[in-house]
Amino acid sequence: MKENVEKKKRVFSGVQPTGQIHIGNYVGAISLWVENQDLYDNIFCIVDLHSLTIPENIAPEYLRRKVREVAALYLACGIDPEKSTIFVQSQVPEHAELTWLLNCVTPIGWLERMTQYKSKSAEMETVGTGLFDYPVLMAADILLYDTDLVPVGDDQKQHIEITRDIAQRFNHLYGEVFKIPDGLFRESGARIMGLDTPEVKMSKSLGEMKKRHSIGLLDSEEDIRDAIMRATTDSNMETRYEYASPGVKNLLVLYEVLTGSSREEVEEHFSGKNYGTLKKELVEVVLDTLRPIQQKYNEIVNEEGYLDNILNEGRMRAKEIASATIARVKEHMGLTL
Ligand code: AMP
Ligand code: TRP
Repeated sequence: MKENVEKKKRVFSGVQPTGQIHIGNYVGAISLWVENQDLYDNIFCIVDLHSLTIPENIAPEYLRRKVREVAALYLACGIDPEKSTIFVQSQVPEHAELTWLLNCVTPIGWLERMTQYKSKSAEMETVGTGLFDYPVLMAADILLYDTDLVPVGDDQKQHIEITRDIAQRFNHLYGEVFKIPDGLFRESGARIMGLDTPEVKMSKSLGEMKKRHSIGLLDSEEDIRDAIMRATTDSNMETRYEYASPGVKNLLVLYEVLTGSSREEVEEHFSGKNYGTLKKELVEVVLDTLRPIQQKYNEIVNEEGYLDNILNEGRMRAKEIASATIARVKEHMGLTL
């Protein structure tokens, strides 16, 4: 038989195991991974080392629990361990090792310009070095696996850019070692806004603090209904994307992505209808999306050993690729005897 010579492109992405995993994470990232799962060679990571950059949020027991929750949610959302590798970042020490090597080619000025660093550090009394170095760890995650595509929400654009810059600088200094990755973003839904505050993006930390800010993937039917029905809108009756207020547009986008409709179809469907109808219909769509996910999640967490086996296999496959990259990097840097 003839070999299929066309190699699949490699996808790498991850979620931090902190806060409440919400419908924005699902729409902007996880559902995009699932949709494209057959097209690519996929690696999905639970990036626990990144979570440590906000130390006051992290108690050891909390982190341990959240890592398992995120892994189970990946599976419950449809990531298939037969098609994708799932593993925990801290279990593959090459991530930390490559971070150091990349630190040494990354100018401080590039990190000082990062908007996420600027906004997060502005709220902190003492800023950890880890928070500053966060983008380099993310670059290491991506570059370790010869990644072609990184499917993420649009808040990660700057981090993808700096990853490309670091890879290019390294290649320039030491020779062609790294593949230059591209981001992969949804055209619609790459930035879901807070339901209560549509001027800011839906966030995991706010979701944990405020009841009607977000829709958690594991929320009860009652909480989901409440958050959507009381979502901020306006006093008009405008359901065209171009003219809708941010809150209404956010609801339209959620409906669009979760039903797999086009914008035209959504506009036509809601034309002349009031916001109450939009909200009621969105509640049903969200419940239909989350019900099977929650059911599968409960099955997974109750099946003794299932998750551990998958994470263990994932770790071994990730380790194999990562250690080969590290060997190549060290060879080019002169770190071999
Ligand atoms: P994080 O919550 O920062 O760990 O993000 C995990 C993934 O979800 C990343 O790909 C983010 O870009 C994406 N994401 C986070 N918040 C949103 C949002 N409000 N809308 C769309 N995507 C998001
Ligand atoms: N910074 C990403 C976020 O907050 C998480 C992340 C860490 C990531 N490493 C990554 C995403 C590598 C994609 C690829 O969402």
